[in-house]
Amino acid sequence: MSKQPIGIFDSGVGGTSIWKEIHKLLPNENTIYLADSINAPYGPKGKEAITKLSIKNTELLLKKGCKIIVVACNTATTNAIDYLRNTYNIPFIGIEPAIKPAALQTKNNAVGILATQGTLSSELFSKTAGKFASHIKVIEQVGEGLVDLIENGKLHSNEMTALLKLYLKPMIQANIDYLVLGCTHYPYLMPQLIKLLPKHVKIIDSGEAVAKQTKAVLTRLDLLNYEKNTANTFYTNGNLEVLKLLLEKDYNLNYLDF
Ligand code: SIN
Repeated sequence: MSKQPIGIFDSGVGGTSIWKEIHKLLPNENTIYLADSINAPYGPKGKEAITKLSIKNTELLLKKGCKIIVVACNTATTNAIDYLRNTYNIPFIGIEPAIKPAALQTKNNAVGILATQGTLSSELFSKTAGKFASHIKVIEQVGEGLVDLIENGKLHSNEMTALLKLYLKPMIQANIDYLVLGCTHYPYLMPQLIKLLPKHVKIIDSGEAVAKQTKAVLTRLDLLNYEKNTANTFYTNGNLEVLKLLLEKDYNLNYLDF
């Protein structure tokens, strides 16, 4: 058993969608969340820059005594998790786009994936897609601008609706029956996506699977916390108000220059 916190980081506020799933499944766990909003979006940056930022976030979480680190960012996972795992002696949980379940379940043999440039052009993504989805049509779409709008508190804006309509059009034309969300910011777009997509399209995100995987690893390593009175602390180097808006509750939110 360990009372040390679970560390979670993302390029910004989007990883709170993962934090919510972890907190729901493991309510006894202390958590520390880092929103590196000042450097968002990670998506258009190259592998080297994304790895450097991931190292910076990891080292801060290690200083704060975390027992495991959840890389709650698809772009950081697909570009930097191998480096992190090979460098630090601590378990890492990553987020990969759920292309496998979508490819296994599609009846129309057509699935859409909305993700960042960094994720779609990563080696890890092309390996996964090649392994599980080579027999179907995969409509890949870079969600350029979506993370920026969310980070700027413009989740429910006309600009957001216009971008989503544009990005979903080729997917609807290809008659997809599954849409994979390949960025942890995107679950916050769920209400708009449901409205804009035909009713038969199912939307898959990775939050619940990541929470289950975190629990499985902590259980295996005997690192679960069995005590109550947990602390959930959030740090952002961006706008506290946006974080507050997405969390919908008054947790321990702090500005930190990191
Ligand atoms: C980004 O920072 O561009 C998006 C984060 C993600 O890929 O989950």
